[in-house]
Formats: sequence, structure tokens, C-alpha cells
Amino acid sequence: MRLGDCHNFHDFRAMAKRRLPGPIFDYIDGAADDEVTHRRNSESFERCDLVPNVLRGVGQVDMSVTVMGQRLAMPVYCSPTALQRLFHHEGERAVAAAAAKYGTMFGVSSLGTTSLEELRKRHDTPQVYQFYFHRDRGLNRAMMQRAREAGVEVMMLTVDSITGGNRERDLRTGFSIPFKLTLAGMLQFALKPAWALNYLTHERFRLPQLDQHVDMGGGAMSISRYFTEMLDPTMSWDDVAEMVKLWSGQFCLKGVMSVADARRAVDIGCTGIVLSNHGGRQLDGSRAAFDQLAEIVDAVGDRIDVIMDGGVQRGTHVLKALSLGAKAVGLGRYYLYPLAAAGQPGVERALGAIRTEIERGMKLMGCSSIDQLSRENLRFR
Ligand SMILES: Cc1cc2nc3c(=O)[nH]c(=O)nc-3n(C[C@H](O)[C@H](O)[C@H](O)COP(=O)(O)O)c2cc1C
Repeated sequence: MRLGDCHNFHDFRAMAKRRLPGPIFDYIDGAADDEVTHRRNSESFERCDLVPNVLRGVGQVDMSVTVMGQRLAMPVYCSPTALQRLFHHEGERAVAAAAAKYGTMFGVSSLGTTSLEELRKRHDTPQVYQFYFHRDRGLNRAMMQRAREAGVEVMMLTVDSITGGNRERDLRTGFSIPFKLTLAGMLQFALKPAWALNYLTHERFRLPQLDQHVDMGGGAMSISRYFTEMLDPTMSWDDVAEMVKLWSGQFCLKGVMSVADARRAVDIGCTGIVLSNHGGRQLDGSRAAFDQLAEIVDAVGDRIDVIMDGGVQRGTHVLKALSLGAKAVGLGRYYLYPLAAAGQPGVERALGAIRTEIERGMKLMGCSSIDQLSRENLRFR
């Protein structure tokens, strides 16, 4: 299978599966408990139909949007994801370069494997820094200061990971950082020598957002210990309000799902919220962001930028979310499988495909700009 054979999400996923050792593929592909929420995320788009208009003069289509003060040439961005260097040796560099090529935003995770400073210097497309709330308040302030000095445009605090989700595929394979594979997991690595060669002959695995602050080296701290020992489960709205004030710029909460929380995000001065269930990786049984979107947009959409992610595989999914009132849509696995399959050319091909699908979809819907999409264009079954 070659990159040229990949035309959609499912093709990229199949190619990634062939390339990656099983435990790494399952880390990306898997979700919490019975993976019900993960499946529903994509299914939710299918309960809603598009109602197109015709004869509206769609010679030129402008799909740009402005979200949290950032102008994006297309209404999708690469949501922050951890450990990209494990999926392909180019990791975050590939994703940032592809996002820059398409004029859109990318997120850098606290558990990213390339430093936010390096990525900021390489590209001038908007950058999000995704971070977690630590018990050590000084550490939180130091990380925000670092992001400010680097020139990060948007701070994104993930609030749906107060404890780790129950990812049973990872339990079975023994996937963890540092690796503690089960025998079966080791065998899976042995079956993919090309991945191993590639991994071992490139730059060493690092977590540069954390290793200045936390001793992650030499297996001193595993990622699961980082979550249980360093992050603060007592995090409250008052704590976050203080951070928002301190940052005094674009600040969004990722993982808000209820109207009450969306309202509080407005009250404490956030400029955006991302409706998200973390790709079904945290609370299984929680609602799909797309299903929850209208309720949230109706409650706060005139006061804060509402964004969503989860299950997006097609340009028409994006059009449905925008029609309901989302300002932009985040992509996760949609770009991770192409990264694993082929590095930067893979991510570029995937972003190019969704761009083409959005453009084609807008023309077929009779819309020449995003603001022409509305609930008039949707019917729920
Ligand atoms: C492998 C993987 C790693 C992720 N790492 C992070 C992370 O470090 N921080 C975070 O806030 N979200 C993380 N996410 C969640 C994504 O940002 C996003 O919310 C989710 O992937 C959207 O769902 P989708 O994959 O169905 O598009 C991760 C998702 C995946 C699949």
C-alpha cells in the first residue's frame, strides 16, 4: 500500500496499521472502556443530513474562518496530541509543517516530542499550547511564561483528563512510556523491524515541554506517574480563573461538555471552548461533541468561540458542525494515521483531501463563504 492509494481516513488508517507496531497503533486507535463514545463520535454525524441550496453562484469559495483571534485559511486545525515522534520520526515537525502549508493552526501537547520553541521558530501559522494543571502552581506559572516567551498564540487547558481513561488495549499490550511491554507486545515490535530501524536511527525520544521541569529522563518518571503524581485533581474554576487572568490573551478550555461549564468558561474570561470527549479516550459513555454542539452554541455562542472535535473523518462532517454554529473543528486521528503512514507528505495529503472535500461540499451546498452555512442547511433524522 502506498500513499497514492490513500484517499480517505480509512485508507490512511489501514496504511498506518501496516507500518506501526501493534501496541503503538492501538495507542492511537484505541479509546476508553468499551470504546462506545469513540464509535459514536463519528456516527453522530450520520444522524444529521445536509440540505443543499442550488444556483447560488459558487465560482469562488472562501473557507477561511477567524477563531480566537486567529485567521485560518480553512476551518479545521490539528488538535494537540501526545508522543508524535513514536508514530513517525518526523513527529510534530511534520504536522506543524503540513498545517503551515495549509494556513491553519496546530496544537503542541505538553506530552509533545518537539519543543514548542522550535516549532514556533520554524512556522508562523497560529500555534496552540496544550497544557495540564499541575499541583505545583509555580510550575504552572513557569510553563505559561515559557509559552509566552516562545510566542504561542493560544493557551489550551485540557480539563477532561483529571484522571487517566481506562484504555484496555494499552493494558493488554503493556504500552506505556517508558516502554514496559508484555511479551505479546514485544513480539508485535519484532514484527515491524522497519519501524524499529527508523525509530532507532533518528533523534532520541524526548518530551521537551516537560523535561526542563520534570525528571522524565532515564525512566525516572513514567507518563502514568506524571498524571497521578504531578497533576492536580483538585483543580477548580478559581484556579483556572487565575491562570486566564495571568495569561491575559487567547485562552480556551478543551473538554467542556455541559452548558453550565460553558457559561462558567465565559464568566472567567476564556475566549474559546473546545467541546470534546478526548476522542473517546477518557469518559466512555459521554456524549459526542457534535450531539452536544447546538445546546452549547445556543447558550454561549454569542459570547465565546465554540469549537468541537471528535470523530471527524470527512469534509461534510466539518460542514455539519459549522452549520450548527462551531467556529472551527479539531482533527485528531484524522492526521495521526497519515503521520504514521508517511510522515509530512502523509499529513499534507490528508489535509489537502479534507480541504478539497470542504470546498467541494460548500459548492454543492450553494455556499461561497462559511457564514452562509446555517441550521437551515441541516435536518436531524
Ligand atoms: C494518540 C492520541 C493522543 C492524544 N494526546 C492528547 C494530548 O496530549 N492532549 C490533549 O489535550 N488531547 C490529546 N488527544 C485528544 C485530541 O486532541 C482530540 O481531542 C481527539 O483526538 C479528537 O478525536 P478524533 O481523534 O476522533 O479526531 C489525543 C488523541 C489521540 C488519538
